Amino acid sequence: MEPDPGVDTEGADGNGAAASDALPDLKSSLGREDWSTWPVYEAAALGLPGSWWYPVMWSEEVGSRPVGVKLLGRNVAFVRENGKVYAMADRCPHRGVPLSLGNQQFPGTLSCAYHGWTYDLETGVMVAAITDGPDSPICGKVRVETYPVAERLGLVWIFIGDGKGSAPPVETAIPRELLENDFSMGGRIDVRGGGWRFAAENGFDEGHAKYLHRTSLWRMFKVMPTWTKTRVIPTDDGWITRVQDEVHMDATFPGLGTWTNKRWWKLGGNIIHTKPGKAAKKVDPVIAAMDVPGNQHIRLPGLLRIVHTRFIHYEWYVPADEDLYRYIQVFVEFRTGTSGLLFKLRYLGAIRWLFHGQFTGQDGWMVNVMDAPPERLYRPDVSITRWRALCESAPPNGLAIPDEADAEPEAKPERKPRSRARSR
Ligand code: FES
Ligand SMILES: [Fe+2]
Repeated sequence: MEPDPGVDTEGADGNGAAASDALPDLKSSLGREDWSTWPVYEAAALGLPGSWWYPVMWSEEVGSRPVGVKLLGRNVAFVRENGKVYAMADRCPHRGVPLSLGNQQFPGTLSCAYHGWTYDLETGVMVAAITDGPDSPICGKVRVETYPVAERLGLVWIFIGDGKGSAPPVETAIPRELLENDFSMGGRIDVRGGGWRFAAENGFDEGHAKYLHRTSLWRMFKVMPTWTKTRVIPTDDGWITRVQDEVHMDATFPGLGTWTNKRWWKLGGNIIHTKPGKAAKKVDPVIAAMDVPGNQHIRLPGLLRIVHTRFIHYEWYVPADEDLYRYIQVFVEFRTGTSGLLFKLRYLGAIRWLFHGQFTGQDGWMVNVMDAPPERLYRPDVSITRWRALCESAPPNGLAIPDEADAEPEAKPERKPRSRARSR
């Protein structure tokens, strides 16, 4: 494995400098003091350069009454008219009042609550200043920014950022398997603290799940490994994937003793070392057909995918401001009809609380209290450094699949947006 910047790979046994006859130097123990190895990432507290499609909220949350949402450090107002959702900057240029406090006085417009300046929903141009009459000289001379909006997976999506140019189709932001198959889904959206970058790093982090989550109710009956040796490889559709070359269920630490997560009430097997390939038992046929080389994937601009044998868990990290992010979890099973309905009940009755609540709540707890840099990375953190490297190469055009244009047509089946997803 080629060495990663900032990851301590010294000592095949992983004990590195902790020799018993000399204490490690405290100063070097602090490790790297900044993220200058990844300047793009370091500067991306409010999101990666360029513009990207991000999911924002459930479709049913947007009606004729405007909704204000913080995204990438900006305030955005969403409103629905005749079934179509529009988004515009949530600030009236007159005196800075949020447009989301206003309402519709004329079709195709949104009027500010204060003095009635009225903006065209499509273009953002101020088409009337109600309290200055029809001949108001400022009319048509003021404009607020508007953003492309789409609805997919029962979610409202926005194309936003500092990029120029038109938006690619929203399908480029949606995992292929969700475009090509029917499925049922459940999901949960929270606003959490700690910043989108820590959240993404936590999502793709190799080291923590087997330790932090060993106490979670979701994993109560599943034994998890003690430690692993991991590679990160690029895979198709812009994903990078964690592949475990070694999985150790227990380990003896010299002078300390044995450590294991095995308990008599826990059953063997879990996704960390079970490849959901064609050979796996009871694997969902859609998931088997994906034939992924590892279970944990991440791609730009911040979408995690954990592939289990019967379901897939997705999470998006959408920057709100420098500290807050929208944490969007989606749980998918490739079943429909009565079977899909039963899944839905299982989701609402258990999965939503156990997995999307308590389990990922442990992640939220860590993300919120983490404080780095400085940071001293260890071998499993190759997952984090590879994610940062992926962000360094983020294309400015908002395409999560940067090589899509070069792909051989026969290697990538035509995308058919025929999913019948259900939200929440
Ligand atoms: S602040 Fe919006 S119309 Fe005056
Ligand atoms: Fe986690």
